[in-house]
Amino acid sequence: MSDLQSGVKEICQACGNDRTRMMDIVRTVQARYGCVSDEAIDLIAKTVSTPRVQVAGLVSFYAFFSMQSKGKVVIRLCNDIIDRMHGSARSAQAFFDDLGITFGQTTPDGAISLESVPCIGLSDQAPAALINDVPVTHLTSDAAHDIVEELKTHMDPQKLVMSFGDGNNAHPLVRSMVRNNIRLPGPIIFSPCVRGEAIKKALGITPAEVIRAVKTARLRGRGGAGFPTGIKWEFCRAAEGDKKYVLCNADEGEPGTFKDRVLLTERPGRVFAGMTIAGYAIGAAEGIVYLRGEYAYLRAYLEDVLAKRRSDGLLGKDILGKKGFSFDIRIQMGAGAYVCGEETALISSCEGLRGDPKTRPPFPAQKGYLDCPSVVNNVETFCCVTKILEQGPATFSGYGSAGSSGTKLLSISGDCTTPGIYEVVFGITLGEVLKRAGAEDAIAVQVGGPSGQIVGPKDYGRKICFDDLATGGSIMTFGPKRDVLKTAHCFMEFFIDESCGYCTPCRVGNVLLKERLEKIMQGRGEPDDLDYLQQLGMTVKTASRCGLGQTSANPILTSLANFRPQYEALVKADKDGFKRSFDVKAALRDAEQAAGHTSVVYP
Ligand SMILES: Cc1cc2nc3c(=O)[nH]c(=O)nc-3n(C[C@H](O)[C@H](O)[C@H](O)COP(=O)(O)O)c2cc1C
Ligand code: SF4
Repeated sequence: MSDLQSGVKEICQACGNDRTRMMDIVRTVQARYGCVSDEAIDLIAKTVSTPRVQVAGLVSFYAFFSMQSKGKVVIRLCNDIIDRMHGSARSAQAFFDDLGITFGQTTPDGAISLESVPCIGLSDQAPAALINDVPVTHLTSDAAHDIVEELKTHMDPQKLVMSFGDGNNAHPLVRSMVRNNIRLPGPIIFSPCVRGEAIKKALGITPAEVIRAVKTARLRGRGGAGFPTGIKWEFCRAAEGDKKYVLCNADEGEPGTFKDRVLLTERPGRVFAGMTIAGYAIGAAEGIVYLRGEYAYLRAYLEDVLAKRRSDGLLGKDILGKKGFSFDIRIQMGAGAYVCGEETALISSCEGLRGDPKTRPPFPAQKGYLDCPSVVNNVETFCCVTKILEQGPATFSGYGSAGSSGTKLLSISGDCTTPGIYEVVFGITLGEVLKRAGAEDAIAVQVGGPSGQIVGPKDYGRKICFDDLATGGSIMTFGPKRDVLKTAHCFMEFFIDESCGYCTPCRVGNVLLKERLEKIMQGRGEPDDLDYLQQLGMTVKTASRCGLGQTSANPILTSLANFRPQYEALVKADKDGFKRSFDVKAALRDAEQAAGHTSVVYP
């Protein structure tokens, strides 16, 4: 038996030869062999008795998996707009120079691969990279040179971490240079909490009363859409099914968001308590945390927190002595796919499949993980649940407004003096937020990440809440020197890369939108192009199947709405009304270069 054959057999066996554990199987094969080769795919398919095409489809779907061999060390440099603004191109150039390769390549000795990846959840300490699982922050070109030099001597990314970040980033199971940057702790999420108290209180009342408490608190989901949590749980509790599941969405892929990273680092107990309370409320015995692949450095620490909760009776059989209530939590690693944050795609991924979104209805609360009724909630939502049960719904709903109760964690990054995490009471104005973060001179703010909206100073008096400026948490600030169209262009590139490709409006429409935007940015735009962007943008929004496509045109649509003069300045017709859709100079450029002389172009 070859090493690969015995290795794959052993890996599959460790996962119970269970095809729903395919993400773990493939992840382990990738880590051990540097790729998931054709042969490995065959072996996995045979061992877990699943069609080969399903394994191959999964490998090709996730950015962290590859059929081609990658280096022993993979450097993933974040290409998010915030990292670009902070000079990631200089670090990239240093890596190119020292390694003699560019993005997507591996050094000839097979040692180091270099990749350009979307937001890795570190916008508050950009530019950042992941070196294997190890986050490296505040990169400079000098730091990049040092990294390559060091890696060449020991090939151990962990040795690159010279000093640890604050709080649990210094925990022996984390040992990371990442910083929490908690700038404004608020009265809910970061206020003190007595361990076990919320679960004890929940178990002292009936599941229906727990749901009533969550409804009375008027808690709405913190992952973006703001769906009322209590109503979701009620649907799930009422749904037919012997087994039910609680899923925690820790995918945090929206560029510019990093609050869940900090919650998982500093408040994991509250997240797990919230999941346990949800399990009691809906009648589930199992929970899954879907942890984005980029946060793998937190996994050992989170497993340890779970183990301690088991030994303290906060997880497992008959929790806190409550006969008949058993609940446990496992961690499912993601593998670099933004669309897996969409709840149906997340469920597919947990089932060991490609992260393809599904058509709804049925909603997960009716038919979710393994076709069983399931609730999917965001990390922050579960933290809120814990506080609601511990302190009572009135304390929670005493903050904020009727439609938006409680507080919200904001991840603030970009051109500001103090990027980081701010726990604000719903209803705070955007202007006040900018003042606190030191971004008063912002000419534009991206609220809610690329899928949200970009607004300008006329909107700084608006309120952060579900009924006005809604956000899952991402607030990116842009100073006077920034170009709004460049930002929109960067976000369109992101959506094109992350589209799962299933439906045409999203797969093709976003490419067409980006191309038309490029035409305008190159100064070749015509006034009609603005109508084209508007109409095509609306088509992509309304005709796409899932939330990714339904929001992917937002960078263009909202910048058109709020920064139209910038577009108009670039699409002015010539003074005689002549439209410049055909750029004769550009068209002749290649021919001129080949001929070695320039042409005379009459005005
Ligand atoms: C493309 C896409 C990505 C998403 N990413 C996330 C994410 O990373 N985290 C999250 O909680 N919700 C994300 N969502 C929203 C989820 O589909 C879902 O609404 C959410 O997890 C529900 O939890 P909540 O009600 O507690 O907010 C995403 C949605 C879409 C369409
Ligand atoms: S909208 Fe985009 S991401 Fe969503 S299903 Fe269609 S192609 Fe896939």
